[in-house]
Amino acid sequence: MSLYIGLMSGTSLDGIDASIVDISPHQVRLKRSVDYPIPAALKQQILTLMNNQGGDNIELLGEVDAKLGIVFAEAAQHLLENSPYQAKDITAIGSHGQTIRHRPDSTTPFTLQIGDASRICELTGITTITDFRRRDIAAGGQGAPLVPAFHRAVFASADENRCIINIGGMANISYLPKNGHQDTAGFDTGPGNVLLDSWCYQQTGEYYDKNGSWGKSGKSSDALLQKMLQDPYFSQAPPKSTGREHFNLDWIDKKLAGNAFEARDVQASLTELTARTIIDAIDNHFADSSQLIICGGGVYNLHLKERLQQLSGQRLVCDTSAYGIDPNWVEAAAFGWLAHCCLNKIPANEPAVTGARSRVILGAIYPK
Ligand SMILES: Nc1ncnc2c1ncn2[C@@H]1O[C@H](COP(=O)(O)OP(=O)(O)O)[C@@H](O)[C@H]1O
Ligand SMILES: [Mg+2]
Repeated sequence: MSLYIGLMSGTSLDGIDASIVDISPHQVRLKRSVDYPIPAALKQQILTLMNNQGGDNIELLGEVDAKLGIVFAEAAQHLLENSPYQAKDITAIGSHGQTIRHRPDSTTPFTLQIGDASRICELTGITTITDFRRRDIAAGGQGAPLVPAFHRAVFASADENRCIINIGGMANISYLPKNGHQDTAGFDTGPGNVLLDSWCYQQTGEYYDKNGSWGKSGKSSDALLQKMLQDPYFSQAPPKSTGREHFNLDWIDKKLAGNAFEARDVQASLTELTARTIIDAIDNHFADSSQLIICGGGVYNLHLKERLQQLSGQRLVCDTSAYGIDPNWVEAAAFGWLAHCCLNKIPANEPAVTGARSRVILGAIYPK
């Protein structure tokens, strides 16, 4: 048995996903998972950094990096307390960190995830690996998405081409061709839940549209949808990745351009946008996929799931629980697996996905 902890906090800022995975040569098994809250005041500080507001951001960056390190360590400890394992049983923690800026297409490309790994290591007594994305950027890649190699290791089939669709704040797809035929491919398709959450919070005060009921009560506007679909990101050729820098409330305001819509019709249109851009990406790039397997929090938006199913035509749509991993914990499990790859010097980026020049070993090790 080789146990790793994966810690994930994505663009949605809905909390920290923490999982223990058991990694053996041909299998990754999820042993235990918990979610752990990010305190409201810290979440606000993260949003200030993400949105580039306020005064001295270096002071704030240092403070939030340290505080997040402590909260990530608490999440790992809470996970262990709710499991039969102790710190000494865990080989390493893989911590994604919190992305506060992602600029893979700048003149000097960079991506920045924070959450002090020295603190995670010090507080848990477990070797901690973090900073997975920057090596891929250094090798000329987007630094994202990094989960496709994990998706291949766990969900690929010998008999059929599959797509894994991860619907977090952003949505990304991994194309897993029948074993050995072609490279694993994939990219960020655009917004997953982030616009849905932002609009819902602004209009109703709720952090997300529970089960998608509010969006379902509205009617998607064709005119608004067409306007949103014209965003160049959607027709840009891969490799590509995106974030809150691009898809945010300002983006919605610009698309609304002063036109009056019922708030719930906007929510319905945003739901349609997420579903359409995912299925368009599959139709345009991976049309021979026979099964679509979804994961991430978007799985619980029943309206979104229904639209994905309706737009998928003949393809089978299911979620990752059909293949042994609850859709909530796939990304956390992936970062436990990426920690294993780093310690064992296994390159884990997919150049066909990120555009990197070569396969490289991802992550920085903070030894216990
Ligand atoms: N019951 C639900 N109904 C609708 N949406 C949900 C539900 N549960 C989770 N979500 C959505 O999933 C998001 C979290 O997804 P997650 O995969 O954790 O994203 P990230 O990786 O960005 O943190 C929430 O912000 C919310 O939009
Ligand atoms: Mg999350």
